[in-house]
Amino acid sequence: MCGIVGYIGNKEASPILVDGLKKLEYRGYDSAGIAVLNGDFLIYKQPGKVINLEESIDERVKGLSMGIAHTRWATHGEPTEQNAHPHKSNNGEIVIVHNGIIENYKFLKDELIKHGYTFIGQTDTEVLVNYIQFVQEKNHLNIEDALKKTLQGINGAYALAVMDKKEPNKMVVTRKGSPLAIGVTETNEEFYVASDAIPIVEHTQSLVYLNDDEVVVLERGKKLKITDIYGVQKPYRVKNIDLNLNKVSKGKYEHYMLKEIFEQPETIKNTLYSHLNTENTNINFENLDVLKDKLIKANRIIIVSCGTSWHAGIVGEYIIEELARIPVEVEYASEFRYRNPIITEGDIVMAISQSGETADTLAALRYSKSKGATTFCICNVFGSSMARECDFTAYTYAGSEVGVASTKAFTAQVAVVSLLAIQLGVERNTISQEKASALVEEIKTLPLEVNKIFSTNEHIKSIAKNYTQTTSFLFLGRGINFPIALEGALKLKEISYIHAEGYPAAEMKHGPIAMIEESLPTVIVATNNEYYDKLVSNAQEIKARKGPILAVINEDDSDMIHVADFVFKVPRVSDMLQPIVSVIPLQLFSYHVAVFKGCNVDQPRNLAKSVTVE
Ligand code: M6R
Repeated sequence: MCGIVGYIGNKEASPILVDGLKKLEYRGYDSAGIAVLNGDFLIYKQPGKVINLEESIDERVKGLSMGIAHTRWATHGEPTEQNAHPHKSNNGEIVIVHNGIIENYKFLKDELIKHGYTFIGQTDTEVLVNYIQFVQEKNHLNIEDALKKTLQGINGAYALAVMDKKEPNKMVVTRKGSPLAIGVTETNEEFYVASDAIPIVEHTQSLVYLNDDEVVVLERGKKLKITDIYGVQKPYRVKNIDLNLNKVSKGKYEHYMLKEIFEQPETIKNTLYSHLNTENTNINFENLDVLKDKLIKANRIIIVSCGTSWHAGIVGEYIIEELARIPVEVEYASEFRYRNPIITEGDIVMAISQSGETADTLAALRYSKSKGATTFCICNVFGSSMARECDFTAYTYAGSEVGVASTKAFTAQVAVVSLLAIQLGVERNTISQEKASALVEEIKTLPLEVNKIFSTNEHIKSIAKNYTQTTSFLFLGRGINFPIALEGALKLKEISYIHAEGYPAAEMKHGPIAMIEESLPTVIVATNNEYYDKLVSNAQEIKARKGPILAVINEDDSDMIHVADFVFKVPRVSDMLQPIVSVIPLQLFSYHVAVFKGCNVDQPRNLAKSVTVE
């Protein structure tokens, strides 16, 4: 994880770097640091948020126009000042910022220790910068060649920005497995470097995305020079990125998460209408044509994803199997490629990812591609690694999601997967055009239905207030509501630190029922589907054991309302569209519990928005 920023040009570097870090804090916020060059390096580092770093920077940075910066999500070593980046080599001549993990750092460190190197912290990055020094001195190389030679012996993932004070007009950057973008200008007088486009686009919209193992030298007034780590020159393409960043602010809301929850009517609408034809009557995935045949004839769809996106994948499994009758498997991306999965050419491997950068999902996609599968992704970030590498991308139009807890991206993912299932159903003749049109018409009403739920926000808040001391929750659901139970549990635990477990309701009697007692509330997602009566029975079983019950029910509910202690009402829609409405009160409930507990809702402890390490 972590975010890196770099600048070389004719402006003062430090405000650009700090501002860039703030925009990358979603990638980690354990500590932050910058290094600027003024003959020697000026390095500032602080544990905690970028704001701490900003406050520590003094007058000495004035007029210095080249530097690198980092916001950290700790992997090796605690989030202390010592372990914060940038890291400096023993001879004080090289500094580096790094996003990723150096897997063979221990081996390299032992070798360096034998040669008399010393270390002040525990990070793999400190080992790397010293190894560059070691290689440079041993082989009498400039920084560019020393870095390339070093990388030939490195296992792991990295995006790196490196400065050497012996070559004060040069910055060298590279990546493998971790994302990195370079902003270029027409005169080549300035270059911007960042882990994603967001910190760059306000300065220049011309971006070059690096591929794995490419090394770039940035020098004022000179065109980019890109080679691989063996020195072979590489071509590159400058892309024009049009990112609307106006909306990346909290507006009138106290937290990004709340704003993003309330944005859902708009984000669902944007997503839906982006995949409908101009008359808004039929589904139309732009540019899908080339892949359509493969999708229609697919033996199987394997969905790979993580976290909330994995839950969207399970919703997708239910809908695609129901409507298109294609077998679907949903896999944790992190498990998938390590278990020697059977992948054949007729398989479609579909990644679902908000960021398009999650390391495990990206690796699962690459693995599948190498085995001959057709790859497809549902993703929210334009130009992300997944979008660039997949055979086809269906975007969610949720806009930037800043809150670490994913909300609007989830409903947008479910919207896309629903449209895809309907279209595949029509193409495969497993549903009629009439049914498809009826579903499309109903989907168009979802933004309005979601909006209605917001009128119950104060009610949800008043219920949430009762649970600040609760230490554990059970979430139950059946059928297509099962992934919503999982998602409700994940939302609660990640932002309120209350233990929560999602379970298929019928499985409760095979174990979790032993935990039921007065102090363990159960949230049941009990909208009126074919399992409704069974869910009411499950609720009775919990009540009989004195377990408190909160239930998500439809407005016209008849039975659950009498069993539950508290209810969250949602409009009734078709079963397969119910997840999009049922999840909303659970998002709000988690949010309010976390706020009452005084937790940092947008930046929960230990987490980062985009998990770019394995
Ligand atoms: O960017 P992605 O959708 O690939 O991210 C996947 C997970 O890391 C993400 O959903 C995570 O679980 C969120 N914190 C959940 O709210």
